Amino acid sequence: MSSSLDAKLGAALRSRDERQIRRRLSDPDADAGLVDFHTNDYLSLSHSPDLRARFLSKLHVAPEILGSGGSRLLVNGHAHSALEARLANFFGSPTALLFNSGFDANVGFFSCIPQPGDVVVLDEYIHASVHDGVRSSRARDAQFTFEHNCLTSLGDVLLRLLHARPGLSTGENSLFVAVESLYSMDGTVAPLSQIVEMLETLLPNGNGYLVVDEAHATGIYGPNGKGLVAMLGLEHRVLARLHTFGKALAGSGAVILTSTLIRDYMLNYSRSLIYTTSLSHANIVSVDCSFDLLEDGTAKKLSSHLLQLSTHFLDTLRTLMQTHVIPAHLLSLPSHLSAPPAVEPIALLAPVFAYLPAPIIPVFTSHPRPLSAYLRAKGMNARPITWPTVPKGRDRIRVCLHYGNSRLEVEDLARAMVEWAREQIGQQRMIDSRLPHQEVLVQSKL
Ligand SMILES: Cc1ncc(COP(=O)(O)O)c(C=O)c1O
Repeated sequence: MSSSLDAKLGAALRSRDERQIRRRLSDPDADAGLVDFHTNDYLSLSHSPDLRARFLSKLHVAPEILGSGGSRLLVNGHAHSALEARLANFFGSPTALLFNSGFDANVGFFSCIPQPGDVVVLDEYIHASVHDGVRSSRARDAQFTFEHNCLTSLGDVLLRLLHARPGLSTGENSLFVAVESLYSMDGTVAPLSQIVEMLETLLPNGNGYLVVDEAHATGIYGPNGKGLVAMLGLEHRVLARLHTFGKALAGSGAVILTSTLIRDYMLNYSRSLIYTTSLSHANIVSVDCSFDLLEDGTAKKLSSHLLQLSTHFLDTLRTLMQTHVIPAHLLSLPSHLSAPPAVEPIALLAPVFAYLPAPIIPVFTSHPRPLSAYLRAKGMNARPITWPTVPKGRDRIRVCLHYGNSRLEVEDLARAMVEWAREQIGQQRMIDSRLPHQEVLVQSKL
């Protein structure tokens, strides 16, 4: 006999099935051999013979490789401390603190740093882990959102909060703004310099803090892949930066770069750091090797090729969509990508990040699953992303490009998307052309 718990869980899953939003693990065998347009392995480092060789040779001589023995507070391995020192130095930060994942790092930071009376302001597209952190913090009832990347909306929220909460004007309470430098689902870039300036202007007592999640920008942007904060020279004007190792760096784990005080506080209060076994030694070795490739300029070469590939894909797709007059409900690009940039992207960096080539390209469609299935049948793995991962009405194929994709592969992807759209148009025309005929038949039977 099934329990009431089984019945409730089963009903929830069936409801997701009916709404076609049930999440499932893909079949690893079915994915084999497909062209990768979906992983976050942007620099293709997971297949890099150079990284593999470095990793194996460092493993060979590492004094310890298995496990880590416990939480950092129980066992603080030499390798862990040395990696933190290296990362603090590389990123130009007072300190660095390792976490087992970016998820743990965001939860760890946001659950403990905001104090009673403080407020947290989130970009509406911020990662789920930040929400989870804030939800379990002492500012859980004081979280606000602003429209994605919209400075006007952020300004409105800040002014309203300053008006309603005198402690923010006096400097007694703090205000945290959380953004991603490169947004994971949209490939949009936060206007970091403008946000910092706004915080410094509206909260002149220095109690407005920016926290930047660089998960998807790590290895891709900035000097030697140090991220957008470093690219804009904002290292000393943000409170904390998060870099993750599981995406372009082909490892796992994450680091928070911040002040000595905040690091010490997290060591005492951050539960996702304190109550978990730290990264294994082998994992530390792998991350160390990835940073070798950032430091020696390899990653820079890979990312520059990757970003050229992104521009090529977009140019191809835009041209094909225009030539074949594809309606927006079948395929469309977000506003920041719908037209080629009027000026060289780099020239736009100083005033506002209107456009920066990115490895993440959302292609909106009202039929993400059939389109993804069509691409899969053609040997390409590009995943559908639907609500609740993205807002309702913003269903898409999230195209992720990689250093290892060829120009031909990205052209094929663009062609296949447009071919699919043209088939849909053709089928719709056939249905429309049959309709009057059927109506006549129905009428003649009456
Ligand atoms: C913006 C952002 N932050 C944090 C994370 C979590 O990082 P990790 O995969 O290392 O847990 C992710 C990954 O999904 C992400 O996209």
